[in-house]
Amino acid sequence: MKIFVDTANLQEIEETLKRGFIQGVTTNPSLLAKEPKSKFEEHISKIVELLKKYQDGAHLSVEVFSQDPKEILKQAKYFKQTFQYDSLSIKVQVGWNELEVIKELSENGISVNCTACMNVTQAMMAAWAGAKYVSLFWGRIRDGGSDEKFKNERDMAFKNKSLDNDDFDPAKVVRRTRQLIDQTGLNAEIIAGSMRGVLDIRDAVLAGAHIVTVPPKLFKDMISHFKTDEVIRQFLTDFDNWLK
Ligand code: E4P
Repeated sequence: MKIFVDTANLQEIEETLKRGFIQGVTTNPSLLAKEPKSKFEEHISKIVELLKKYQDGAHLSVEVFSQDPKEILKQAKYFKQTFQYDSLSIKVQVGWNELEVIKELSENGISVNCTACMNVTQAMMAAWAGAKYVSLFWGRIRDGGSDEKFKNERDMAFKNKSLDNDDFDPAKVVRRTRQLIDQTGLNAEIIAGSMRGVLDIRDAVLAGAHIVTVPPKLFKDMISHFKTDEVIRQFLTDFDNWLK
């Protein structure tokens, strides 16, 4: 089981890499869009430099920014050529047309992280097509079950029997996908993303995600505990009193 950091912010990536507990970085176009405007290639190259400095060989996922299969293929090949980083994985969105791209990239030895998967069938089809990673979006899967905005789509999917309530329980989605990957002997790993709190991270790990990608703001919550604070205070006070 591994932890990745889910950010495109250079300072957050460096702060995290310095601490040695992560094995990779995932980015997406929205995360990049939060950063000060710069050239995309320059920004990703800076992430690559940080990885090489602190943890050469750690995973890096960079997402294509097109839905056109030909353009996705072009961008994926361009990223591989431009960034020259062996552990680079190309994030390709899940979808019918995208499966063909995933197959072609994988057959050409390019690691694919199939992103934006929300249910078991999407993740499995991507893995069968050759994706090395399938990213299941924990928080968004859960939101899908309650978001009023999607009531009609949800009702329609229930009526068609393409989804049921279990498909909006991210722990069940991850557990079942893991079970199927293991049963079929596929060489794919589940990345659980869209983490909203420490409990999501714990539950994703327990559900069988191979990797959980975590927004950096959650790391301090993961490492803190009020009873730890109390006992450390107590040790120091007891020792100080003994010294007096
Ligand atoms: C994963 O690779 C994605 O970057 C990410 O976790 C998306 O989640 P969010 O947009 O719901 O936070």
